[in-house]
Amino acid sequence: MMKKLAVLSLVAVLGACSKAPNAEKPDGAENYALNCAGCHNPGPGHPGTMLLEQLERPVPALIGRKDLELDYLKSVVRQGLIEMPPFRPTELSDDEIAEIYAYIKDAKPPAQTPAIPAKGAP
Ligand code: HEC
Repeated sequence: MMKKLAVLSLVAVLGACSKAPNAEKPDGAENYALNCAGCHNPGPGHPGTMLLEQLERPVPALIGRKDLELDYLKSVVRQGLIEMPPFRPTELSDDEIAEIYAYIKDAKPPAQTPAIPAKGAP
């Protein structure tokens, strides 16, 4: 059901784009939602968040993290990192990565929801 909704809304977005050739390109928040959120949003079911929680990062969800450097984020996005796939310049330009970076840094961190249930939890 969710998948169907996602496909439908993608079709709606694409339709909107073809009708408005001068529509603004996606900003940092939109590109984050499209390219990163699936793995990096807070809560269970997000491999990025779960792995970064195991690595004991200050904010396991990427969003709202203040300790990342742009150069580091850029090299992770370009080269990938263990489980994370790399993004080519045709998928995300350097400028778009910088916008995603700015969005991540400026956003408010989410309430801490452990992606991995505490030991002993049912
Ligand atoms: C398919 C899932 C997936 C997608 C999509 C994804 N990531 Fe990741 N990302 C991961 C995983 C998993 C890790 C943890 C690396 C590891 O240890 O495997 C990670 C790690 C990172 C790190 C390192 C953080 C740290 O503390 O060292 C950064 C930065 C990052 N991702 C940024 C991004 C950005 C920006 C995007 C979108 C352009 C993105 N990721 C898209 C899965 C993903």
